[in-house]
Amino acid sequence: MSTKKDNFTTKDKKFMKLALDLARARKGLTGDNPSVGCVIVKKGEIISIGQTGYGGRPHAEHNAISNCFEDPKDSRMYITLEPCNHYGKTPPCTKNIIKNQIREVYYPIEDIDLKVKGKSSLILENSNIKVKKGLLRKEALNLYNSYYINRKKKLPYVIGKIALSKNKIIYSDTTRRITNKISDKLSHYLRFKSDGILITSKTLNIDDPKLNCRLQGYTKFSPKRIILDKNLKINLKSYIVKSIKDKNTIIFYNSNNKTKKNFLKKKGAFLINQATKKNENFDLKKILKKLYMLGIKNLLVEGGDKLTKSFIQKRMFNEFYTFKSSENLLKENKYVNFTSSDILKTKYGRYKTNFKLGTDKITIYKN
Ligand SMILES: NC(=O)c1ccc[n+]([C@@H]2O[C@H](COP(=O)([O-])OP(=O)(O)OC[C@H]3O[C@@H](n4cnc5c(N)ncnc54)[C@H](OP(=O)(O)O)[C@@H]3O)[C@@H](O)[C@H]2O)c1
Repeated sequence: MSTKKDNFTTKDKKFMKLALDLARARKGLTGDNPSVGCVIVKKGEIISIGQTGYGGRPHAEHNAISNCFEDPKDSRMYITLEPCNHYGKTPPCTKNIIKNQIREVYYPIEDIDLKVKGKSSLILENSNIKVKKGLLRKEALNLYNSYYINRKKKLPYVIGKIALSKNKIIYSDTTRRITNKISDKLSHYLRFKSDGILITSKTLNIDDPKLNCRLQGYTKFSPKRIILDKNLKINLKSYIVKSIKDKNTIIFYNSNNKTKKNFLKKKGAFLINQATKKNENFDLKKILKKLYMLGIKNLLVEGGDKLTKSFIQKRMFNEFYTFKSSENLLKENKYVNFTSSDILKTKYGRYKTNFKLGTDKITIYKN
């Protein structure tokens, strides 16, 4: 059996890089299943590529085999994760690989799923298929960070973001827009890659946001809207309430307001009566656990200052984005400051990257 000490060629790396790019492109859009990329190579030429289907099926290996424009017999397959080897909703990919007489299979890491982990190489090698592991392992581990958190901790992978002015204002009633239109695209890309987007009813009532993905052609990938609304203060005339349908909105509450509850239920909201200790806010960890159970594997938090601070203090963001403009905002009338800059540096300062989008500066902090 081969190990990660195998020597890999530049071409091997190139093919695996392509497979990783394919997987990365669909990350966040494959439901419970990891996003996998697959490249099939015969006589040094790519004869097919495949990605995990939206929602998690078909698997990338299946798609790549079906897409082949040449018989895959005697080819080499580059997959970003150990192929599945058990019967689930689809037959095992190992079976498909064997049936199609693929000669060599490369994958960087084993699956964390115990049903799969470490078994595929034995199955494949028993059918005389050469297996090589460890190619671009670090890149693959990086790609599957969210999948690992999902499976190990039974929690969604949580990304937070906030837009702020140069003088750290996150809301001003004189200027709605803080950052530029290129930053908007990245914000909407984050929404596109998330299953759920979380805000409080306070922010909802002030901003009346749409919370959808407005990248052209991608609106159908908008995340579920999740509202923390302990006292059911949500404005029933807001855009979010008006656009509730098919359980696309989850509301956590703890209130006896029957009229409001019935109204929201009738609209089709998914209401969760979440217990809280007296005079305390929701336990965010419990909220995350529940969201995971409801299928939210990738969560975007677009909190105001207080909600964001709660997440930062508890180190509950896996990643946090600040979108900072180069302009100051006037401190007139109503405004809200971002008060977590220092604590953000203490809790998340070790791993961060910066880049510019126009004149805005984006910083990504990683846990
Ligand atoms: N620039 C940006 O990126 C951005 C993004 C979002 C919002 N904003 C702005 O931020 C402002 C609001 O910020 P904010 O700090 O005042 O409010 P916020 O963070 O949106 O919400 C705070 C309120 O939500 C509730 N809450 C917070 N944590 C909770 C928890 N763990 N469980 C249950 N409820 C919880 C509490 O309501 P109760 O006290 O009623 O329990 C709390 O007062 C708005 O003006 C909005 O425009 C800016």
